[in-house]
Amino acid sequence: MYKSDFPILTQQPIVYLDSAASAQKPMFVLERMLRFYEQSYANVHRGSCTLANNATILYEEARQKVAQFIQATPSQIIFTKGATESINLIANSYAQTLQEGDEVLVSIAEHHANFVPWQQACLKSKASLKTFRVLSSGEIDLDDYHQQLTPRTKIVAITHMSNVLGIENPIKDMIQKAHQLGAKVVVDGAQSVAHMPIDVQKLNCDFFVFSGHKLYAPTGIGVLYGQTEALNTLLPYQFGGDMIKEVTIHQSIFSDVPAKFEAGTPPIAEAVSLGYAIDYLTRIGMDKIESYEARLTRCLIDGLKQFDEINIMGDSSLKKGIVSFTFQNIHVSDIAFILAKQNICVRTGHHCAMPLHQFFNLTGSLRVSLGLYSDETDVDLFLNGLKKAVQLF
Ligand code: ALA
Repeated sequence: MYKSDFPILTQQPIVYLDSAASAQKPMFVLERMLRFYEQSYANVHRGSCTLANNATILYEEARQKVAQFIQATPSQIIFTKGATESINLIANSYAQTLQEGDEVLVSIAEHHANFVPWQQACLKSKASLKTFRVLSSGEIDLDDYHQQLTPRTKIVAITHMSNVLGIENPIKDMIQKAHQLGAKVVVDGAQSVAHMPIDVQKLNCDFFVFSGHKLYAPTGIGVLYGQTEALNTLLPYQFGGDMIKEVTIHQSIFSDVPAKFEAGTPPIAEAVSLGYAIDYLTRIGMDKIESYEARLTRCLIDGLKQFDEINIMGDSSLKKGIVSFTFQNIHVSDIAFILAKQNICVRTGHHCAMPLHQFFNLTGSLRVSLGLYSDETDVDLFLNGLKKAVQLF
């Protein structure tokens, strides 16, 4: 529906079905990013010239846009370089306060970015890392979640939508249960943020993280949202310029949040451009994007079900724009290679979710992921391409 807004998709004959890895960028963002560098670029929070003041205003406006987009306030938004850095920041801080006997609970479906930082924090602090399962439908096994959640659980780290299964998890209720037992909840919104409206107030999560590059913005910019009290207890992860109030030879007094967590020169143009991407998405409406993609996901799944030899990973009806599958007797890389010859872009492998693939007894899968620019022609071309590929085996 919106393909003509994306130059890379109109200037070459490609079927781009790898938006979960990274989304393409609309001209709306590209033009404004260039204009920012041409007309307004300078470092932020430092200079006193007009350019520096304007750059600071635009950078802080971007923070406001992000806050509004997820129903937060600007002081609760920290710019990072991506969801991975956001989670590392939180995990690094907790690694210093977790103790032996404490537990961190994550789902088996986490991306390595929301798994390994917690594993390492537990190794450092001698806390225990526990996992809860998903059902064969790919949906969270809530019985297992409730069983694993105990008063010893200090943190629950859960994806809002797995980058492999594409299923929206019932995180609102899960957060409520975790809070009843005193745990903090970190939500990985790296995938969900591009597919549905996000309201962190309603979710009541302690932390919510995402990357700009999956939200039609440039790479190198990410977001860490935190409830004010949760952010105030976090320890800074990096030290340097712009995060201090005062430095003497023996000690430093840190700035207030969010500056406290934004040491050094931030990704200025990237943050400003994330604001432009949000302008673009807001004009379309995240509700509209959600229902459009739901219809297209349905078409994709219906098409895949015509193939006898395909097994969809977690065949739930709650999928939003991401479908992964395997073949009974064909290696997914062989199929992806043949699709690539037809200019069809998909991703194969473990998708940085090895524990989930191990859980399903798989070494990898083929993933198709949609963006707001994907359309029925893409799905048809993909299904035809797949048919041709399968016929070769
Ligand atoms: N996290 C991205 C993916 O799932 C890179 O492909």
